Amino acid sequence: MTHVIKGQTLSFAEDDTPRHEARGAVAVGDDGTILWAGPQSLLPQDFLQADVTDYGEMIVMPGFIDAHIHFPQYRMLAAPGKDLLDWLTRFTFPEESRYADQAYAAAAAEIFLDRLLQHGTTSALAFCSVHKSCADALFAAADARGMALITGKTMMDRNAIPAVEDTPETGARETEELYRAWHGKGRLRYAVTPRFAITSSDAQLKISGELLASLPGALMQTHLSESPGEIAMVASLFPKAKDYTDVYDHFGLLSDRSLFAHGIHLSERECARLSDSGATVVHCPTSNTFLGSGLMSMPYLRKPERPVHLGVATDVGGGTSYSMLATLGEAYKVQMLAGYKPSAAELFCMATRGNARRLKIDHDTGAIELGKFADLVVLDPHATPVLASRQEVSTSLEDVLFSLMILGDDRAVKATYVKGRKLHVRA
Ligand code: GUN
Ligand code: ZN
Repeated sequence: MTHVIKGQTLSFAEDDTPRHEARGAVAVGDDGTILWAGPQSLLPQDFLQADVTDYGEMIVMPGFIDAHIHFPQYRMLAAPGKDLLDWLTRFTFPEESRYADQAYAAAAAEIFLDRLLQHGTTSALAFCSVHKSCADALFAAADARGMALITGKTMMDRNAIPAVEDTPETGARETEELYRAWHGKGRLRYAVTPRFAITSSDAQLKISGELLASLPGALMQTHLSESPGEIAMVASLFPKAKDYTDVYDHFGLLSDRSLFAHGIHLSERECARLSDSGATVVHCPTSNTFLGSGLMSMPYLRKPERPVHLGVATDVGGGTSYSMLATLGEAYKVQMLAGYKPSAAELFCMATRGNARRLKIDHDTGAIELGKFADLVVLDPHATPVLASRQEVSTSLEDVLFSLMILGDDRAVKATYVKGRKLHVRA
């Protein structure tokens, strides 16, 4: 049955400018697509009989898209590592080893996706563990929810613990099997997923590049230039490479379908190569401050003579919040420390239409537009006493968005829709 969702609607246009209706409406068809959007006063006659959910002054906007998150780290936020490599060895690898157990992974996938929805996140590019069953579990759970989710089995064949290592051959075979089973099923897509240069041998990185070239439509996700200790180890493992980016470049991993988390300490040369290739660097601010990795600078990455595409993400469980609101708030603080003051509108755009573009799912999500799926989040600017007080002095949409990203989290998420179905509502 067609239904109409009313509220203060907000979306970002193709040129990233905000489209805002103080009293807006979105009409959603049986198939979950948006049939019409605009001011309530212009709602066509055809929809006057439809069921209506009216959110009043709450903000109805595209669901958040998380461009980098680790499913098998869903319960290990706030693990106090000394730095990235210590955190990986002491906490992360042992936790990820649990995902060899199919039943455990299946139960975890339900919790993980419900948690994303609780935080208003409707799509994600996610890492799984090294285990094929982990990726099977997440794909199946996302498909059941109708979500546009992109994931892949992590490939890692060295410098970890045996319980989370594969080999170049098994990694490649399982990647191909998973791609064939899930890529293009519903809204699911596959991402070739070598964890990072430290945990993949030359042979595995080479196969990763070949997989990216041979699997049509697949993305590639990995980590790049996150922490000083990691960069030093990469330099010693790959003495012939010009720099960290060159390691991935050498194996054919730079492309417009490649997403690199972090990118904090990149040289001019690395930025120029990333820019040429059309790759994306994904800013993960809560993780970077938590692990003491460094301050990524958006204006440096975006220098006009060699602009690098940017995304933004939680990086749970190195990140400290599932909330893209909290993540945008932390991005704001990190950019302020890097000498740049982003607007809330710019960051909200990055987390919706921007990330959709980077993940190549913007044909069907990331904006409130005719024909796209109704993947929506409803935000309550008065959700907490502190937010409510703040709105007494808010005088613009920018003020309201700014207060939501600095003060908001899942408490501000009133409802979340995927393909027009309400999959989360905050009581
Ligand atoms: N580098 C390699 N693996 C990881 C991971 O799981 N989290 C983060 N933040 N960085 C990584
Ligand atoms: Zn990560």
